[in-house]
Amino acid sequence: MKFTPTAATAVLAFCSGAFAAPPSESKTEYHTTMSTSTMMYGTKTAESMAKPTMTGASDALAKLGLSKTQQIFLSDTRVDAINNVLKDDKDFVFNFFDAQTGGPGKGGEVVPANRKTFPALTNTNIGGAVGFLGPCGFNTPHVHPRATEFLFLFEGEIMSEMVPENGVVDANGKRRDIRNKLEKFDSTVYFQGSIHSQFNTGCGNATFFAALSSEDFGVGQAADELFSLDDDTIAAVFGNNIDGARVDELRGFIPESVALGVEQCLKKCNIPKRK
Ligand SMILES: *[C@@H]1O[C@H](CO)[C@@H](O)[C@H](O)[C@H]1NC(C)=O
Repeated sequence: MKFTPTAATAVLAFCSGAFAAPPSESKTEYHTTMSTSTMMYGTKTAESMAKPTMTGASDALAKLGLSKTQQIFLSDTRVDAINNVLKDDKDFVFNFFDAQTGGPGKGGEVVPANRKTFPALTNTNIGGAVGFLGPCGFNTPHVHPRATEFLFLFEGEIMSEMVPENGVVDANGKRRDIRNKLEKFDSTVYFQGSIHSQFNTGCGNATFFAALSSEDFGVGQAADELFSLDDDTIAAVFGNNIDGARVDELRGFIPESVALGVEQCLKKCNIPKRK
């Protein structure tokens, strides 16, 4: 719309009309508006809002093979999602112990509660995980691409490390590695995107809960990710001090260097080395 003198006059007329309206008149308008909305929420919508938008819609969606998470995303409101998709009270319970799969690692397992494993988290913006670390278990350095983590240790002891980001340095200007020995009931925070790890330095179990600021926090193991890059890229990362052909050798070397620390712990705890 062009700002013509006519339009300007209309705007001015509207404004002056609004501001010049007598108090009694605006009061009447206010009451009218109020009673209308009260009527909407108090009577008409109280019944219709409680009803699912489409009766049987979630059954149809389930028949299509959609997961509960997908059905919740397709719900008009949270009310509809609870009424149609999260129908069982048990939909609101997640057992971390039962959700263990045996894990890929020998040192324990970190069990995630995200919107896929626990659909009730969908659209809540929070998630969680429980780390079951056996004696000398090591949750290797990793990042969460979409979440900050608040870790609480409720059993055992761990050595916690975090490298936050470029520019975080110690008094000597060296990149800072924030290391802390955590004991039962200690907690710590890992910033979103930071590289962090937990190593169970004890001969008993270490168990922690991690609250995460995303229902889809995601995990990336730092060494695996870095060494998935092209050989020449990795050679360049190391200042071309190593040949591209030696990168494979280096890939094999990394788990060994991690295992060295674990090995010392195994010796201390008199645990025979597992293959
Ligand atoms: C340590 O954890 C494992 C696996 O969850 C469990 O079977 C074992 O009973 C735990 N040991 C102790 C002493 O709690």
